[in-house]
Amino acid sequence: MEVIIKSDKAEASKLGAKIIARLIRENAKAVLGLATGSTPLPLYRELVRMHREEGLSFKDITTFNLDEYVGLDPANPCSFYSEMHKNLFCHLDLAKGASHLPDGMAKDIPTSCAAYEAAIKAAGGVDLQLLGIGHDGHLAFNEPGSSLASRTRLKTLSQKTIKANSRFFGSEAKVPRHVMTMGLGTIMEAKQCVLLAFGKDKAEAVRDMVEGPVSASCPGSVLQFHEQAIILLDHEAAGKLTRKQYYLDVYASKPAWQLWE
Ligand code: GLP
Repeated sequence: MEVIIKSDKAEASKLGAKIIARLIRENAKAVLGLATGSTPLPLYRELVRMHREEGLSFKDITTFNLDEYVGLDPANPCSFYSEMHKNLFCHLDLAKGASHLPDGMAKDIPTSCAAYEAAIKAAGGVDLQLLGIGHDGHLAFNEPGSSLASRTRLKTLSQKTIKANSRFFGSEAKVPRHVMTMGLGTIMEAKQCVLLAFGKDKAEAVRDMVEGPVSASCPGSVLQFHEQAIILLDHEAAGKLTRKQYYLDVYASKPAWQLWE
């Protein structure tokens, strides 16, 4: 794991966008794994700015999102489909049909999940997977207890996640109980993972992910087994890391060729 602690959320998001932009400039046909939630929004705004002002083109890029609510029409403003269109896709030059999300309205969920896995494989696999983390350590919608080898499937949300996501729906009662999510095994197959976490309410989850034992009780900890996982934090989210100073020292003394910026 490469833990990078930036002065604030804006700086960390800019660095995340730079890592993605570098990949796109090296490989115009890259496959991006994308995430929802509040955390990646500043990074998405930076990608849109790079597209508008620096000519960063997404015309040959393919995207796969991590997850979607079951039973929410894509037109529902709370669906991840709507979120992604509003916050990112409609501002970029992505080709028609290049952006994929699990189909939360699928009649046959297991078949649809298997088709999603097959589509990722057919696209050549995910080159870079963007991630956030839940307060309980969940990645995508892989709640604590999820198999570290899991694949795209139906999951039931925990009460904690229902509560956290009720801010988008107006009440807990309106949050769907079921979701379709890439599994931890699916996420681990991405060639590179970039996880963002900001604010002090994420500090415990970050500590358990980075320094805790690898355990299904903290799904994010599976990234300790990933060969290329970058964890981008602000100081608050890094607040409970026992090796915080070491991570800062490592980044400050990196040779120029190893820097992302
Ligand atoms: C949701 C999403 C995750 C996201 C998490 C944290 O449950 N499925 O992908 O990382 O929430 O969200 P936020 O970034 O809003 O804190």
